[in-house]
Amino acid sequence: MTASHAPASVRPRHLLAIQGMPAAEIVRFFDLAETYVAQNRSPDKNTSLLRGRTLVNLFFENSTRTLTSFELAGKRLGADVINMAVAVSSIKKGETLIDTAMTLNAMHLDVLVVRHPESGAVRLLANKVNCAVINAGDGNHEHPTQALLDGLTIRRRKGHIEGLVVAICGDILHSRVARSNIHLLNALGARVRAVAPPTLLPADLARLGVEVHHRMETGLVDADIVMMLRLQTERMSGQFVPSVREYFHFFGLTREKLRAAKPDALIMHPGPMNRGVEIDSEVADDIKRSVILDQVELGVAVRMACLDLLTRPAPATGAI
Ligand code: NCD
Repeated sequence: MTASHAPASVRPRHLLAIQGMPAAEIVRFFDLAETYVAQNRSPDKNTSLLRGRTLVNLFFENSTRTLTSFELAGKRLGADVINMAVAVSSIKKGETLIDTAMTLNAMHLDVLVVRHPESGAVRLLANKVNCAVINAGDGNHEHPTQALLDGLTIRRRKGHIEGLVVAICGDILHSRVARSNIHLLNALGARVRAVAPPTLLPADLARLGVEVHHRMETGLVDADIVMMLRLQTERMSGQFVPSVREYFHFFGLTREKLRAAKPDALIMHPGPMNRGVEIDSEVADDIKRSVILDQVELGVAVRMACLDLLTRPAPATGAI
């Protein structure tokens, strides 16, 4: 790999969604991220690959893992990194978003990482700027880098993804993580199940080839991977579950419910976790089964791979 990339030609490439991404492209991200896993574990973590490049993290929603890992990823590759946390209360949709994009664009950025509460907002913004744009989560639509790091976590632990039974459980309706993962897992040949009460399931799941279950006891049978999701109350309007206690009783992952899955099934969660709501601490902290902290570690490597690939000179290919 060269020490620095030449300026990207013609049109910037973006990472906006997993939907439509060919399997080979996904695997390319995985393979490159593997090289960064090793770099991140070494004492000297920094390179100068992106020296002189500017990365702005523009977050219109709260974040711990995603924002920190993009910041670390940029810094470890030698880029100048600026975090702009935009208070949710200051968002005035449409013009304000475009104005922000145009303002940042005038500062000659190389990569803009955007999280926004509205589905589609990141794509809208990407159409207005000259730099590469990475979707760090838009509404309940997509969160591509989360799915890439989840996929890499599975591949590293299981050696492959094809043929695995992956049960995605909980608030799938409001989850961009679930949506991106469904596209990624389908593309790589896994068997995806959605396990949730009917109120927390989107209508289009069957069309995506996902097997739907309303009970953990059946949905987890012989699962290789159990991926838990948070109840995303900030995206809910109205009452979607009778009570948190009842939700935990029926859908919270406990050691008992996990017995239905394969004995070597892995437990995943994108974070932040609500212990005692969708997951019991006993399983979340089970060092033999839970890979939740592996996901966090691999998140940095995957984001380094994304920054690397998106800033490489390439012909005008449009969105990845
Ligand atoms: C997820 C998100 O923001 O969509 N978190 C994350 O990026 N790790 C999931 C969530 O908020 O529940």
